[in-house]
Amino acid sequence: MYYPDELIEEIRAKNDIVDVISGYVRLQKKGSNHFGLCPFHNEKSPSFSVSGPKQMYYCFGCGAGGNVITFLMEYENYSFQEAIKVLADRAGVALPEMEYSAEAKKADSRRAKLLEVNKEAAKYFYYQLRARQGSIGMEYFKQRQLTDETMNRFGLGYANKYSDDLIKYLRSKGYSQELIRDAGLCNVDEKHGMYDKFWNRVMFPIQDINHRVIGFGGRVMGDGKPKYLNSPETEIFDKSRNLYGLNFARTSRKGNIVLCEGYMDVIAMHQAGFTQAVASLGTAFTPGQASLLKRYTDQVLLAYDSDGAGTNAALRAIGILKEAGMTGKVISLEPYKDPDEFIKNLGAQKLQERLDNAENSFFFELRQISREYDLADPESKTKFHRRLAQKLCEFSEDVERENYIEAVAQKYHIGYENLRRLVGSYAAQTGLAKPAERPKSGINSKKPQDNAQRTQKLLLTWLVEEPQQYPKIKKYISPRDFTDELCRLVAEKLFEGFEQGKVNPAGIISMFPDEEQQREAASFFHTKLPYVENDQERTKAFNDIVYAVKKNSYESDSQNLGSDVAALQRVIEGKRMLEELGRTHISLS
Ligand code: UTP
Ligand code: MN
Repeated sequence: MYYPDELIEEIRAKNDIVDVISGYVRLQKKGSNHFGLCPFHNEKSPSFSVSGPKQMYYCFGCGAGGNVITFLMEYENYSFQEAIKVLADRAGVALPEMEYSAEAKKADSRRAKLLEVNKEAAKYFYYQLRARQGSIGMEYFKQRQLTDETMNRFGLGYANKYSDDLIKYLRSKGYSQELIRDAGLCNVDEKHGMYDKFWNRVMFPIQDINHRVIGFGGRVMGDGKPKYLNSPETEIFDKSRNLYGLNFARTSRKGNIVLCEGYMDVIAMHQAGFTQAVASLGTAFTPGQASLLKRYTDQVLLAYDSDGAGTNAALRAIGILKEAGMTGKVISLEPYKDPDEFIKNLGAQKLQERLDNAENSFFFELRQISREYDLADPESKTKFHRRLAQKLCEFSEDVERENYIEAVAQKYHIGYENLRRLVGSYAAQTGLAKPAERPKSGINSKKPQDNAQRTQKLLLTWLVEEPQQYPKIKKYISPRDFTDELCRLVAEKLFEGFEQGKVNPAGIISMFPDEEQQREAASFFHTKLPYVENDQERTKAFNDIVYAVKKNSYESDSQNLGSDVAALQRVIEGKRMLEELGRTHISLS
């Protein structure tokens, strides 16, 4: 649902950024700004600034920046809509009711019901585990070295030996048989009628990113089969679009996410401080899960079982991550089977070392491939080198491919030129891979910052700092003169504001739908102004910047001059302005 711009602006304006951020970061006032330790990167001395007058934050260390809305989006990993909801609540602004079709309303209340019955079941299991009848479950978890705190955090539970007590309990709470069935909490067959899906198992509630229970995994406490029983997919439980542990991992801020195979691995990792661990839900890792992860990180570390099955699963996951435009690294858990066992034997610190030394997924793949060949045999070795060359064609970007050719040549002791030629001949036969899709379309904010953009940013910062200079330059500079696309969009909004006598940089930022753009736009208002000794130098700096912006715009116009008359006029006009500017001295005071 989209809220009108005015409403978003009202909500933003009613949430003072210094107030909001003070709830997360200890701030100290210095001049008109507040400073603190940046919550978005590790630092010892504060380079994170929050400006009351501008209603924006900016980190001079890592470049994070934005307004109160983007802060919540970055800190809490909220979507724009979620951030708006929270801030509206905080400021007591009523959001308009969603305009629902009757059908949508029905679907929504149905989802709510299913969530409710799952939550009730989770509470029941939770209680059972902690009651006398749950002592075997409790012993089981204790023997697996889980603390009470961990058990509570993950809401672990126990389904006892009777095969109909959950149904009875839920029925007594007023839930219908159909709802219990549709939530996947019971089985129905002709012989037994309706009976609990889970019994005599320890229970792992599965939560979505908003901590709502959407399904369960249940483990036998001995060697029975199946070892884990999972809820079936339901209207609220889509196994391919959720990950176990992501409700915690999403705010872990470790700079990576560790993907494991099992529930117990996730829990053991979190208990050991690796709160960035997640796992898929009893099924293989899916593209849907990859794009979910992509919302939170671009660095995924795989902590799959170290056996053959785990290795194959890791190889498949690498492929899926690659498709989603992410790079994976693989953590070696040797000689242990999985993260849980690794931690039990070697502890958290050793695991951290393994994380730090995770292997680039491409090299991991090559290492697996190399096992199929006998490198002592020249013929087999030659075949292996051909396979390498073929694999190297997967890199569509020249620089990246070159780097890998170099690294692979070194690693496997192949002549660099030979390998290059081999790659070249495969590329000629089969073509290189298509460039991976860059999902963030529209304005390309990642291109290297050139001088022109830098000067344009300087001018924007200067004007925000000293709006009184705007009337003096408006004769010479219009938003069109900002050749950088994002600078131009920001200048349009900013100049519009100046004309109406309002400077509102924080409001401008929320006009961009994409978080990257918001961050970039925020940096436009925080460029470091040139250091100057005195007023005279300051004035000169300002004049230079204005001139440089105009000159760049003029040059770009004349370069792109086609047969268009209007363009020609712009160039002529630009030249005249530039000459005039060359003779003019804009005074700052
Ligand atoms: P594993 O068999 O590797 O178990 O299954 P694990 O994680 O080491 O579990 P523990 O330590 O023995 O308790 C990994 C994951 O595969 C799914 C579950 O999600 C499990 O966490 N699985 C496994 C099932 O869904 N069903 C099974 O029968 C087995
Ligand atoms: Mn295990």
